[in-house]
Amino acid sequence: MDNYKLLVDGGIPLKGETYVSGGKNTSVAIIPATLLCDGPCVLENIPDIEDVRVLVGILRYLGAEVDFDKTAKRLCVDPTHVTNKPIPGYMTGHLRASYYLWGALLGRFGECDVGYPGGCTIGSRPYDQHIKGFEALGASVIDRGDGLFMQGDLAGAPFYFQRITVGGTINIMLAAARARGTTILHNAAREPHIVDLANFLNSMGAVVKGAGTDTIRIRGVSSLHSSDYAIIPDQIETGTLMIAAAATRGDVVIRGCIPTHMEALSAKLLEMGISVQEQDDAIHVRPPVRFHRPVDIRTQEYPGFPTDLQQPMSAMLCLAGGRSVITETIFENRFLHLREMLKMGAHVDLDEANRFVAVIQGVSELHGATVTATDLRAGAALVIAGLIAKGTTEIREPGFIERGYEHIEEKLRSLGANIRREGL
Ligand code: EPU
Repeated sequence: MDNYKLLVDGGIPLKGETYVSGGKNTSVAIIPATLLCDGPCVLENIPDIEDVRVLVGILRYLGAEVDFDKTAKRLCVDPTHVTNKPIPGYMTGHLRASYYLWGALLGRFGECDVGYPGGCTIGSRPYDQHIKGFEALGASVIDRGDGLFMQGDLAGAPFYFQRITVGGTINIMLAAARARGTTILHNAAREPHIVDLANFLNSMGAVVKGAGTDTIRIRGVSSLHSSDYAIIPDQIETGTLMIAAAATRGDVVIRGCIPTHMEALSAKLLEMGISVQEQDDAIHVRPPVRFHRPVDIRTQEYPGFPTDLQQPMSAMLCLAGGRSVITETIFENRFLHLREMLKMGAHVDLDEANRFVAVIQGVSELHGATVTATDLRAGAALVIAGLIAKGTTEIREPGFIERGYEHIEEKLRSLGANIRREGL
């Protein structure tokens, strides 16, 4: 239980300029990847978010020397003296991305003993494809009941993902980077952070080709050297800020982003009648002349519409001028924010028999209410709902938002939003 709540006064169009922090889902892959290195690494543009802080704690526990300069957003990791001791579940259970310790430690030591991952409860989130991938590389995997023990002298191999998985693709890339021989991943995920991880590994001397396509080739090398690497901006934070700007009928320039990562969202915003202008590393969002048109959304792997933006987007659609159908194809439990928004006057049909579809009938007004965040992006969606509702919205369990958004309250306040914390 968080000991504070967020209060959001709605009805203020966001105006001005803001910037995007370094990518959460990139950071949580690249930080464990430093364990594969034989010397110190410097990571630039690392966001000061809870998931990063937890991973830093785990790396220190393993014996890495870690210095996180939060002002400079620079993380220095020297993994030279890391020991491969078991990592208990109370450490790994804080976040999903602790599962990247499997690939990283297996890749460096040929063995790992790591508690189960945690993370947002947005679905059952199996990791069978990770396990099959490690086994294809020669690892034996034992489920200890509280975590996984893996061991093996890894050798490159072809592997076909039966389901496109971001985490699985990253994990097998990590394990394969120092394995003997060549690994070829088929039906790999293509998200921007997979390309970023490949670039980071290559900057340390790895040989990874094809990241960003569905076939990735990793020729294992015996050692990886120090690197100084700046990670890409956060695609989902960019999208969340774009949606917040659009939803409030604001006029906002979002700087420091990569507009090409945002095509699927930009296309939907344009379809709604919102002006989205892309510059080299900025996006300018302006309101439509009249009302927001409704749109149908179907989440898909990159370059499709990201599941992580479905929640913020569907919050905005609650005020669109008509009926929108949201089809969530990745996670079966990603509409909990809409249940909360019913308390704010949203009109949503959630099909109990089919948990992957929500039908939203736009209403003319939402009103403030007390709502509870159930996961990171649900929290972001409720903040957006609060920004467009009449009156004050009280968001309980806002700590979820801190896991993935750096300084989001300050950023929104700098755009004119009235959002503040209050103790419980
Ligand atoms: N899946 C399997 N078997 C596996 C792995 C995945 O069936 O072995 C299924 C999942 O259940 C899901 C689908 O495949 O239905 C895709 O899952 P994926 O593995 O791609 O997701 P993930 O690695 O668990 C990452 C992000 C999520 C993001 C998804 C999809 C991290 C730490 N998490 O999760 O981010 O939603 O990819 O893009 O990178 C978030 O940031 O809020 C978040 C949840």
